Amino acid sequence: MNILILGSGGREHALTWKLAQSKKVNKIFIGPGNAGTSESGTNLKINPESFPDIKSAVLENNIDIVIVGPEAPLTMGISDFFLNDPELKNIPLIGPDKTAAQLEGSKDFAKSFLTRHGIPTAAFRTFDKTNVTEAPAFLRSLIPPYVIKADGLAAGKGVVIVNDIKEAEKEVEAMLAGKFGAAGQKVVIEQFLKGIELSVFIITDGISYKLLPEAKDYKRIGTGDTGLNTGGMGAVSPVSFADSKFMDKVTKRIIDPTLRGLSEDKIIYKGFIFFGLINVGGDPYVIEYNARLGDPESEVIIPRIKSDLFELIEGVANGDLANRTFEIDKKFVSTVMLVSGGYPGTYEKGKSISGIDLVKDSVIFHAGTTRDADKLVTCGGRVLAVSSWGTSMKEALQTSYRNAGLLNFDGVYYRTDIGFDL
Ligand code: AMP
Ligand code: GLY
Repeated sequence: MNILILGSGGREHALTWKLAQSKKVNKIFIGPGNAGTSESGTNLKINPESFPDIKSAVLENNIDIVIVGPEAPLTMGISDFFLNDPELKNIPLIGPDKTAAQLEGSKDFAKSFLTRHGIPTAAFRTFDKTNVTEAPAFLRSLIPPYVIKADGLAAGKGVVIVNDIKEAEKEVEAMLAGKFGAAGQKVVIEQFLKGIELSVFIITDGISYKLLPEAKDYKRIGTGDTGLNTGGMGAVSPVSFADSKFMDKVTKRIIDPTLRGLSEDKIIYKGFIFFGLINVGGDPYVIEYNARLGDPESEVIIPRIKSDLFELIEGVANGDLANRTFEIDKKFVSTVMLVSGGYPGTYEKGKSISGIDLVKDSVIFHAGTTRDADKLVTCGGRVLAVSSWGTSMKEALQTSYRNAGLLNFDGVYYRTDIGFDL
């Protein structure tokens, strides 16, 4: 089997690294990939949002299965593009169609879905220019802080949480006035939920599903969970509070009703579902859905899959996921993300990376790297993820931090407290 993986980050390197170990996989192509993915596969210079380029790459390289890493191609309808193209319609694509991907692409769609199917989530209302005069009254019915979200994709920046009612009202106006462009044509106002967040993942063929390992990611730039939001500064798996009692509630109250809801709404979902959950006093609530795997969560959950991941991918492709088995490693896995100085604000690229050859007992997943002649250099905000296994979380973290200390590039920064809150 030849596989094409779309994307260029740590998640895509982790997928490439794992699938390269499968006996059933012949060649892996990554579009566009990074310096890390090119070690286990062939990078293709394609933009994952340019569907004609993807089509050419699929046909030229005899691709049997396509795996979509990031959300943008999914919400843009890459799956529908394949299904409607005579030359591509028989090539399975792992990822939901445009309608199903709205679970991530539209907060209003996701919240309406959750409420319609009785799945626990924060109370909400959606506003646009036609009913915005009712927003102040709805805000006043809530206990602060106020959670205000742009409806569409806004690169993780579209959520604002403020304490002051006047500021909240101004934020609603600003979003509707175009602060986040078209993503803010509708605005969702939500009840604030207090608790610890975790990420839960399934893979589904539209009929049955497999529960993958859960993870916790660390979104803020600063140690102690302070400062600006980032794409994710590190992750751990398993999550200590996600014990069998809690996960039982997640399955019964969230995952099963989600799949039932999809089926009732006649939505066929093939691919990964990422449940962004919050634990409120022992009860799980959905904060958001994502139509893909998480990053950096992938850098801990994929190393915890002991068996061949391709079995699950093939199960989705063939629609026989129920017959597939897989094994989760009981070991603990941590990942620490090394980022460019200045990230998540402006940062420089092209810094030489050293120390990878010194690393022992960790796997380094590349996020923002490239080759400049034969030199490995930075080319993104998040640069390298240091993933390690341990018989305890402490041991996994010690290994990640020991190896993180051996890696260097001008301006390198990482959080020193990943996993400590648990
Ligand atoms: P989202 O893009 O919807 O996942 O929101 C981004 C982040 O904002 C989440 O990871 C939470 O930390 C926070 N957040 C979103 N919605 C809520 C809520 N209703 N209550 C508390 N925090 C929230
Ligand atoms: N780590 C969160 C995400 O992938 O959206």
